[in-house]
Parts: sequence; C-alpha cells; structure tokens
Amino acid sequence: MRVFSGIRPSGELHIGNYLGAIKQWIDLQDNNDCLFCIVDWHAITTPYNEKNMQDTIFDFACDYLAVGLDPKKCSFFVQSDVKEHAELAWLLGTIVPVGELQRMTQFKDKSKKHSTYVNAGLLNYPILMAADILLYQTDIVPIGKDQVQHLEFARNVAEKFNKKFGKTFKVPESLVPKDGATIKSLQNPDKKMSKTDDGKGCLFLFEEPEQIRKKIMAAETDSETKIKYDDKNKKGISNLLVIYSLFSGLALKDVEKKFTAAQYGEFKKALADLLIEKLTPFRERKEELKENRAFVEETLRCGAQNARTIAKETMEIVRQKMGLR
Ligand code: TYM
Repeated sequence: MRVFSGIRPSGELHIGNYLGAIKQWIDLQDNNDCLFCIVDWHAITTPYNEKNMQDTIFDFACDYLAVGLDPKKCSFFVQSDVKEHAELAWLLGTIVPVGELQRMTQFKDKSKKHSTYVNAGLLNYPILMAADILLYQTDIVPIGKDQVQHLEFARNVAEKFNKKFGKTFKVPESLVPKDGATIKSLQNPDKKMSKTDDGKGCLFLFEEPEQIRKKIMAAETDSETKIKYDDKNKKGISNLLVIYSLFSGLALKDVEKKFTAAQYGEFKKALADLLIEKLTPFRERKEELKENRAFVEETLRCGAQNARTIAKETMEIVRQKMGLR
C-alpha cells in the first residue's frame, strides 16, 4: 500500500501528534511504501517567522528521526523540495467551488483566530493538502481525527477530477487510530491538545522529566476518586488513561484493572514515570541527530528525490488529461 502523511513545521511536537499520527507512521513503514512530508507551504498560511523557518524544518526532521522514522524504510522529505505539489494544487483549484472551501471547519477556526491574516492560502489550504495526497496515488493517509474533514475533501476532489477528465487519481482512505484520535489538553479536556496551547495543557514530546512530572501531576481531573474510563463524565481521567494505554501498550481495560485500588495521585505518578521512561530515549536521540546535520540533510535530499520521481509521473498524466503541456 502507498501511504502518505504530513505535518506542519510549526510549534513543537506534542504527545497528541505522536499518538494521533506519528506512532502510526512508524508502525506502517515496515510493510508499506511510505512517504512522510514536512509541509512547510501549509505552515505559512498562518503567521510565522521566516528567519527561523529553516531551523524549524531541521528541528522537525530531527524530531521525526528521533522518534523512529527510518529513512531506509520510508521517503521523508520537505514539501517545498517537490514543486509539483504547488502545480497540482493550482490545477485542482480550478475544479473546486469557493463555497466548499469557506465552509471548512479549519478555515473558519483559523480565520477567527488570526483575524488580521485571513489570506487566500488559508482558504486554499485543503486544496494543497489534496494535492499532497493525490500526487502520490496514495492508498492510506494516517491522520488524527481533526484532519478527517480535509481527507474527505481530498477524496471528493479525486472523484470529481476522475469523473471530469477520466480515471486519474486513486481515491485515498484515512486511517484514524481508535483511541489516540484526539488527545485532549491536560488543562481543559474538552479541547484537543494543541501546540499553540498555553503550554501547561500541552505535553511536548521532548520535554524534560521535571516538566513532564509537573504537567501530569497538575492535569485536570474530576472530584471523584475512581479510575475509570468514561469520556462523557470523566474526561480528564479518561484522557490520562488513553495516554497511559497507548504508551504502555496495555489495553484500556487492563490499565483500569491495574489501578482499581489507586488514588488519582498515585495513577498520575505512575503515568509520569511511564512517560519519562518512554520519552527520555527520544530526547537523547534528538540531541545526537542535531549534531549530525549532514545525515539529516542527506535523508531529506534522498526522500525528495524519491518523491519527485512519483510526482513527475502523476503530473505528466494530469497535464495530458487536462489538455495542458
Ligand atoms: P498538523 O500539523 O496540525 O498535525 C499533524 C498530525 O497530528 C495530528 N494531531 C493530533 N492527533 C491526536 N490528538 C491531537 N491533539 C492532535 N493534534 C494534531 C493531526 O491530525 C495530524 O494527523 N493539515 C495537516 C498537515 C497535512 C497533511 C497533508 C496530513 C498537510 N498535508 C496530507 C496528511 C496528508 C495538519 O495541519 O496537521
């Protein structure tokens, strides 16, 4: 199966990104033809600092390699190194009604949040994302729940294009993890964990042990004492149980059983210990990679080369179908 997924190089990676998306990428790379992309052209649709951009991309590349992406098993690259993404996005834009773009949840949320920077790129964001996916004749797109609407949009674009110009694109399927689809903020379990959060609610992947402990111990829970999964009435503790389950590999039921007799404080302490144990090797590996810039750059260069070969093939077909050169 061909697998494609992307992540915006903005802010820092948090455990929501890891459990919702990256962990699946790492599992998929063993038995599939995987392309994973740092989508810098998506990141510039909201305010960003152009002076830091290349450092941020390098840092993200180190992050992914540190948590287990293996360049021998997948193509890992930067979106702007493969210009065909922009070309295909332009072409697909000509078959998408503007009204459909204006109704997208992310466009509405982000234009409210950055009300002085509502640019055409933000509106066209889903088209570029559709281009990312369709360019590689992708079968499967591993994503968190918040990206499902964009994936539906990409599927519609593929179907519409195929109907108008003849079968050209594969219609991709999303792959959303059942439990980790949305990791919630540690401070406000009604909201998803987000890298643009206030910091306290967001647990970053490369956080120092003391910080991990502080944030987990301060995580919001209810006033009861029973450690039980109930994502309607006990959202805070349920979120922590999901995190424990996904990092330990134990089923939710078994985590509940393990902590039946425990108080919230005891459970939180065990969760902090588990996270420190699992995240410390990531942090150490990242430090090594940061010292090995040549390896990281070469990985991205090779990844882009592989990606370009597939992208060029698709674009030749697309241009021909659309009567272009
Ligand atoms: P981005 O950069 O916001 O997030 C990257 C991935 O992390 C997932 N995610 C979460 N999963 C669980 N819980 C959370 N709290 C959480 N926060 C984020 C996201 O669902 C996503 O899978 N538009 C995309 C990037 C993109 C893309 C693509 C993805 C561009 N082109 C093509 C797939 C295919 C985005 O902004 O993701």
